[in-house]
Amino acid sequence: MTGNTQATTPILVLGGTGKTGRRVVQRLRARGIPTRLGSRSAQPPFDWDDRSTWAPALDGVKSAYVSYYPDVAVPGAAETVAAFAKLAVNSGVPRLVLLGGRGEAEAERVEQAVRASGADLTIVRSTWFAQNFSEDYMLEHVLSGEVTLPAGDTPEPFVDADDIADVAVAALTDERHIGQLYELTGPRLLTFAAATAEIAKAAGREVRYVPVSVEEYAAAAAEQGVPGEVIDLLAYLFSEVLDGRNAHLADGVQRALGREPRDFADFARDAAASGVWDAAPMSIRPSERSSA
Ligand SMILES: NC(=O)c1ccc[n+]([C@@H]2O[C@H](COP(=O)([O-])OP(=O)(O)OC[C@H]3O[C@@H](n4cnc5c(N)ncnc54)[C@H](OP(=O)(O)O)[C@@H]3O)[C@@H](O)[C@H]2O)c1
Repeated sequence: MTGNTQATTPILVLGGTGKTGRRVVQRLRARGIPTRLGSRSAQPPFDWDDRSTWAPALDGVKSAYVSYYPDVAVPGAAETVAAFAKLAVNSGVPRLVLLGGRGEAEAERVEQAVRASGADLTIVRSTWFAQNFSEDYMLEHVLSGEVTLPAGDTPEPFVDADDIADVAVAALTDERHIGQLYELTGPRLLTFAAATAEIAKAAGREVRYVPVSVEEYAAAAAEQGVPGEVIDLLAYLFSEVLDGRNAHLADGVQRALGREPRDFADFARDAAASGVWDAAPMSIRPSERSSA
């Protein structure tokens, strides 16, 4: 391939409209690097549940950022992601950057399976995203005034999705990251109560943390009509990773980027400034029963 062709060959970003993928795409585009989004709404569409969409998405790309949906901890994720990695390698796209999950058995099976595909791999193994509170299911909790989770008082070193994207982009654009496993955390351990307090302070609204059991959490979610498979996934995640096994810091951001990770307080300040927590309080209070 000539230098010119290389410069116009896109990088495939799976989950390119999601929390990390969107940021990866923004950064690559800002550097003038062409990207191809890989998701159901992209052209060509990419669907993890429809393998016939995989080859067209891989056609003519030079590397790929692989974030699996819904979660690398879901039983069966390893087989699916491994099949994608094998296809990528066999299609001449061996350079993969995989987003993994920290402290999850199935997520580690995903890493091993992708490694076994023979890919030129960088693993970005991440802990809980701070952005779960602003761009995912915990946003509703913040807006309702109660973050109701079966997380007890286990501390978690929340990581900023901006740091994840910075590491992923470094890996996608510099071959020296091939073969590396970067375990990413923020710089500080925070209980969910402390994280909620930081959000409340930054957002200037009343939000409190309400610890519940996994069973209470699942029952309240079912009452609100949350689909069964989503409840199962969340219950699995909470029982799997919030038993203290992740309650320590890692140095992946420092090793990959040569700088400190962003602090949760910086995340909370920026998210508050974006207005995402400005909506009126929500009437649904999932924890009403359990907090009574
Ligand atoms: N949240 C955390 O705290 C955390 C921590 C560690 C690891 N992780 C891992 O992060 C990964 C998710 O990354 P993310 O949070 O950046 O993504 P995300 O915000 O969950 O975004 C979802 C993306 O996936 C696409 N998508 C949805 N269904 C799809 C399907 N069937 N096939 C293909 N694409 C689909 C969506 O676009 P369309 O709707 O257009 O398809 C969107 O681009 C998971 O593997 C999870 O295990 C998360």
